[in-house]
Amino acid sequence: MATDVWLISLQDLDDDARAIHLEAVAGLEMGPGQDRFVGDPLRMALTGLAEESRRPYVIESAGRAVGVLTLQAAAARLAGWPDDHSAWLLRGFLIDRREQGRGLGPLAAAAAVSAAQKLTARHHTGEAGVVLSVNEANAAGLSAYRRAGFVDRGQYTGGQAGPQRIMFRSF
Ligand SMILES: CC(C)(COP(=O)(O)OP(=O)(O)OC[C@H]1O[C@@H](n2cnc3c(N)ncnc32)[C@H](O)[C@@H]1OP(=O)(O)O)[C@@H](O)C(=O)NCCC(=O)NCCS
Repeated sequence: MATDVWLISLQDLDDDARAIHLEAVAGLEMGPGQDRFVGDPLRMALTGLAEESRRPYVIESAGRAVGVLTLQAAAARLAGWPDDHSAWLLRGFLIDRREQGRGLGPLAAAAAVSAAQKLTARHHTGEAGVVLSVNEANAAGLSAYRRAGFVDRGQYTGGQAGPQRIMFRSF
Protein backbone atom coordinates (compact mmCIF):
# COMPACT_ATOMS: atom_id res chain seq x y z
CA MET A 1 0.00 0.00 0.00
CA ALA A 2 1.07 3.61 -0.51
CA THR A 3 2.61 5.34 2.47
CA ASP A 4 2.57 9.05 1.71
CA VAL A 5 1.41 11.73 -0.67
CA TRP A 6 2.30 15.39 -1.09
CA LEU A 7 0.08 18.12 -2.45
CA ILE A 8 1.95 20.59 -4.65
CA SER A 9 0.11 23.88 -5.05
CA LEU A 10 0.37 24.88 -8.71
CA GLN A 11 -0.29 28.49 -7.79
CA ASP A 12 2.69 28.62 -5.45
CA LEU A 13 5.26 27.44 -8.05
CA ASP A 14 7.40 29.66 -10.26
CA ASP A 15 6.75 29.53 -14.00
CA ASP A 16 9.39 26.88 -14.78
CA ALA A 17 8.35 24.53 -12.00
CA ARG A 18 4.68 25.02 -12.90
CA ALA A 19 5.37 24.11 -16.53
CA ILE A 20 7.15 20.91 -15.46
CA HIS A 21 4.27 19.91 -13.21
CA LEU A 22 1.68 20.70 -15.88
CA GLU A 23 3.54 18.45 -18.29
CA ALA A 24 3.28 15.64 -15.74
CA VAL A 25 -0.43 16.37 -15.32
CA ALA A 26 -0.87 16.09 -19.10
CA GLY A 27 0.47 12.53 -18.85
CA LEU A 28 -2.12 11.40 -16.28
CA GLU A 29 -4.67 8.89 -17.51
CA MET A 30 -8.09 7.86 -16.30
CA GLY A 31 -9.46 4.34 -16.47
CA PRO A 32 -12.17 3.18 -18.89
CA GLY A 33 -15.49 4.89 -18.21
CA GLN A 34 -14.06 7.18 -15.52
CA ASP A 35 -14.57 10.27 -17.71
CA ARG A 36 -18.16 9.98 -16.50
CA PHE A 37 -17.00 10.99 -13.02
CA VAL A 38 -14.24 13.52 -13.62
CA GLY A 39 -12.94 15.95 -16.24
CA ASP A 40 -9.67 15.95 -18.18
CA PRO A 41 -6.83 16.47 -15.64
CA LEU A 42 -4.87 19.08 -17.60
CA ARG A 43 -7.99 21.08 -18.38
CA MET A 44 -9.00 20.99 -14.69
CA ALA A 45 -5.54 22.19 -13.62
CA LEU A 46 -5.56 25.04 -16.14
CA THR A 47 -9.08 26.08 -15.19
CA GLY A 48 -7.95 26.02 -11.57
CA LEU A 49 -5.10 28.39 -12.34
CA ALA A 50 -7.37 30.74 -14.26
CA GLU A 51 -10.03 31.17 -11.57
CA GLU A 52 -9.27 33.06 -8.41
CA SER A 53 -11.54 30.98 -6.18
CA ARG A 54 -9.81 27.70 -7.14
CA ARG A 55 -6.61 26.16 -5.80
CA PRO A 56 -5.36 23.35 -8.02
CA TYR A 57 -2.88 20.80 -6.65
CA VAL A 58 -0.77 18.05 -8.13
CA ILE A 59 -0.76 14.91 -6.00
CA GLU A 60 2.73 13.43 -5.74
CA SER A 61 3.90 10.14 -4.32
CA ALA A 62 7.42 8.72 -4.36
CA GLY A 63 8.59 11.78 -6.28
CA ARG A 64 6.18 11.55 -9.19
CA ALA A 65 2.82 13.01 -10.14
CA VAL A 66 0.02 10.53 -9.46
CA GLY A 67 -3.07 12.73 -9.63
CA VAL A 68 -4.75 16.10 -9.31
CA LEU A 69 -7.35 17.78 -7.15
CA THR A 70 -8.77 21.26 -6.69
CA LEU A 71 -10.05 23.07 -3.62
CA GLN A 72 -12.51 25.85 -4.34
CA ALA A 73 -13.74 28.59 -2.01
CA ALA A 74 -17.27 29.95 -1.95
CA ALA A 75 -18.68 27.19 -4.15
CA ALA A 76 -19.96 24.46 -1.79
CA ARG A 77 -23.49 24.64 -3.16
CA LEU A 78 -22.16 22.98 -6.33
CA ALA A 79 -21.91 19.80 -4.21
CA GLY A 80 -25.41 20.18 -2.76
CA TRP A 81 -24.24 21.94 0.44
CA PRO A 82 -26.85 24.39 1.79
CA ASP A 83 -24.57 27.44 1.47
CA ASP A 84 -21.43 28.35 -0.46
CA HIS A 85 -19.12 29.62 2.27
CA SER A 86 -19.12 27.27 5.26
CA ALA A 87 -17.14 24.54 3.49
CA TRP A 88 -14.40 24.21 0.89
CA LEU A 89 -15.46 22.36 -2.27
CA LEU A 90 -13.20 19.46 -3.27
CA ARG A 91 -13.48 18.83 -7.01
CA GLY A 92 -11.51 17.55 -9.98
CA PHE A 93 -10.10 14.65 -7.98
CA LEU A 94 -8.27 11.97 -9.93
CA ILE A 95 -5.61 9.33 -9.32
CA ASP A 96 -3.86 8.09 -12.46
CA ARG A 97 -5.33 4.75 -13.55
CA ARG A 98 -1.94 3.01 -13.18
CA GLU A 99 -1.72 4.14 -9.54
CA GLN A 100 -5.29 3.35 -8.47
CA GLY A 101 -6.06 0.68 -5.88
CA ARG A 102 -2.98 1.40 -3.72
CA GLY A 103 -4.65 3.66 -1.18
CA LEU A 104 -3.38 6.92 -2.66
CA GLY A 105 -6.92 8.30 -3.09
CA PRO A 106 -7.77 8.26 0.65
CA LEU A 107 -4.36 9.71 1.53
CA ALA A 108 -4.77 12.53 -0.99
CA ALA A 109 -8.33 13.31 0.13
CA ALA A 110 -7.16 13.51 3.75
CA ALA A 111 -4.23 15.73 2.68
CA ALA A 112 -6.71 18.01 0.90
CA VAL A 113 -8.61 18.46 4.16
CA SER A 114 -5.37 19.43 5.94
CA ALA A 115 -4.50 21.88 3.16
CA ALA A 116 -7.98 23.41 3.33
CA GLN A 117 -7.74 23.77 7.10
CA LYS A 118 -4.44 25.64 6.75
CA LEU A 119 -5.93 27.97 4.13
CA THR A 120 -8.87 28.74 6.40
CA ALA A 121 -6.54 29.47 9.32
CA ARG A 122 -4.26 31.66 7.19
CA HIS A 123 -6.98 33.69 5.48
CA HIS A 124 -9.59 33.69 8.29
CA THR A 125 -12.34 32.66 5.87
CA GLY A 126 -14.32 30.62 8.40
CA GLU A 127 -14.92 27.32 6.57
CA ALA A 128 -15.69 24.39 8.89
CA GLY A 129 -14.57 21.56 6.63
CA VAL A 130 -14.53 20.17 3.10
CA VAL A 131 -17.49 18.97 1.05
CA LEU A 132 -17.71 17.09 -2.25
CA SER A 133 -20.28 15.22 -4.27
CA VAL A 134 -19.59 11.79 -5.66
CA ASN A 135 -21.71 9.80 -8.07
CA GLU A 136 -23.66 6.97 -6.41
CA ALA A 137 -22.33 4.64 -9.10
CA ASN A 138 -18.70 5.51 -8.27
CA ALA A 139 -17.88 2.71 -5.81
CA ALA A 140 -14.12 3.44 -5.76
CA GLY A 141 -14.77 7.12 -5.05
CA LEU A 142 -17.29 6.45 -2.27
CA SER A 143 -14.93 4.00 -0.61
CA ALA A 144 -11.87 6.25 -0.92
CA TYR A 145 -13.66 9.27 0.61
CA ARG A 146 -15.11 7.18 3.44
CA ARG A 147 -11.64 5.89 4.21
CA ALA A 148 -10.41 9.49 4.31
CA GLY A 149 -12.93 10.29 7.04
CA PHE A 150 -15.68 11.89 4.94
CA VAL A 151 -19.23 11.17 6.10
CA ASP A 152 -22.36 10.88 3.99
CA ARG A 153 -24.60 13.92 4.38
CA GLY A 154 -27.36 12.89 1.99
CA GLN A 155 -28.27 12.76 -1.66
CA TYR A 156 -27.75 15.48 -4.26
CA THR A 157 -29.67 15.24 -7.48
CA GLY A 158 -28.45 18.48 -9.05
CA GLY A 159 -25.51 16.94 -10.95
CA GLN A 160 -25.57 16.09 -14.63
CA ALA A 161 -24.32 12.47 -14.34
CA GLY A 162 -26.98 10.99 -12.06
CA PRO A 163 -27.60 11.05 -8.31
CA GLN A 164 -24.65 11.95 -6.07
CA ARG A 165 -23.79 11.52 -2.39
CA ILE A 166 -22.84 14.67 -0.50
CA MET A 167 -19.79 13.88 1.62
CA PHE A 168 -18.30 16.14 4.29
CA ARG A 169 -15.32 16.07 6.59
CA SER A 170 -15.02 18.73 9.27
CA PHE A 171 -11.68 20.16 10.37
C1 LIG B 1 -11.77 7.54 -6.83
C2 LIG B 1 -10.25 7.46 -6.85
C3 LIG B 1 -9.68 8.85 -6.63
C4 LIG B 1 -9.81 6.54 -5.71
O1 LIG B 1 -8.40 6.53 -5.65
P1 LIG B 1 -7.57 5.19 -5.35
O2 LIG B 1 -6.18 5.62 -5.11
O3 LIG B 1 -7.80 4.19 -6.40
O4 LIG B 1 -8.25 4.74 -3.98
P2 LIG B 1 -8.11 3.31 -3.29
O5 LIG B 1 -6.77 2.72 -3.59
O6 LIG B 1 -8.48 3.49 -1.86
O7 LIG B 1 -9.20 2.44 -4.01
C5 LIG B 1 -10.58 2.70 -3.80
C6 LIG B 1 -11.37 1.45 -4.10
O8 LIG B 1 -11.30 1.14 -5.49
C7 LIG B 1 -10.73 -0.14 -5.70
N1 LIG B 1 -9.84 -0.04 -6.87
C8 LIG B 1 -9.31 1.07 -7.37
N2 LIG B 1 -8.56 0.80 -8.43
C9 LIG B 1 -8.62 -0.51 -8.62
C10 LIG B 1 -8.07 -1.39 -9.56
N3 LIG B 1 -7.32 -0.94 -10.58
N4 LIG B 1 -8.33 -2.69 -9.44
C11 LIG B 1 -9.10 -3.13 -8.44
N5 LIG B 1 -9.68 -2.35 -7.52
C12 LIG B 1 -9.42 -1.06 -7.61
C13 LIG B 1 -9.95 -0.41 -4.45
O9 LIG B 1 -9.79 -1.80 -4.21
C14 LIG B 1 -10.82 0.22 -3.40
O10 LIG B 1 -11.93 -0.62 -3.13
P3 LIG B 1 -12.29 -1.05 -1.62
O11 LIG B 1 -12.42 0.22 -0.85
O12 LIG B 1 -13.57 -1.78 -1.78
O13 LIG B 1 -11.14 -1.88 -1.15
C15 LIG B 1 -9.72 6.88 -8.17
O14 LIG B 1 -10.32 5.61 -8.37
C16 LIG B 1 -10.00 7.75 -9.38
O15 LIG B 1 -9.24 8.66 -9.67
N6 LIG B 1 -11.12 7.48 -10.12
C17 LIG B 1 -11.46 8.23 -11.31
C18 LIG B 1 -11.88 9.65 -11.02
C19 LIG B 1 -12.95 9.74 -9.96
O16 LIG B 1 -13.88 8.97 -9.90
N7 LIG B 1 -12.77 10.75 -9.10
C20 LIG B 1 -13.70 11.04 -8.03
C21 LIG B 1 -14.75 11.97 -8.52
S1 LIG B 1 -15.79 12.52 -7.17
